[in-house]
Amino acid sequence: MIPMDQHPAAFPSMLVAPGTDGAPFVATIDAADLTPGSMRRVTRGDVDILLASTPDGVVAVDDRCPHMSAPLSVGSLEGCVVKCPLHEGRFDLCSGEIVQMPTTGGLDADGNYHPTWSPAGGEPKVDPPGLKAEARRLTRVRRLRYYPVRIVDGRIEVAFPR
Ligand code: FES
Repeated sequence: MIPMDQHPAAFPSMLVAPGTDGAPFVATIDAADLTPGSMRRVTRGDVDILLASTPDGVVAVDDRCPHMSAPLSVGSLEGCVVKCPLHEGRFDLCSGEIVQMPTTGGLDADGNYHPTWSPAGGEPKVDPPGLKAEARRLTRVRRLRYYPVRIVDGRIEVAFPR
């Protein structure tokens, strides 16, 4: 049975995934298999998509963390906010906003620098010299990209890029 609130969520139009304008919708999983508050990965070709059932509805984004591409589908979902399992970055799937920068720090989507996470009350962590630290500092958290979703005959359909 399809939960009553199972519907596609609205998303910021400027964050639509490239190549999905006019792309055909493809059936993925039964809507009943995406219970409220759950996430599933669906794959077509080399595109992995995260389906998430949020309080605002069903969203489809890349199943790649916008930081360093870890699969968000093995993270956790609380309301609209998905938490990445790798560096604890948290992203709002309903608004597209970063809720918490990854513990590694680095650049946010606007290019602003955020330092490496340090425990509250402790000395700020100092990055060691070297290429790895520089790579972390220069890694920019990208914006989430959304795939159009619709629910037809109890199936979740996603517009995969052509
Ligand atoms: S890969 Fe997700 S927070 Fe780093």
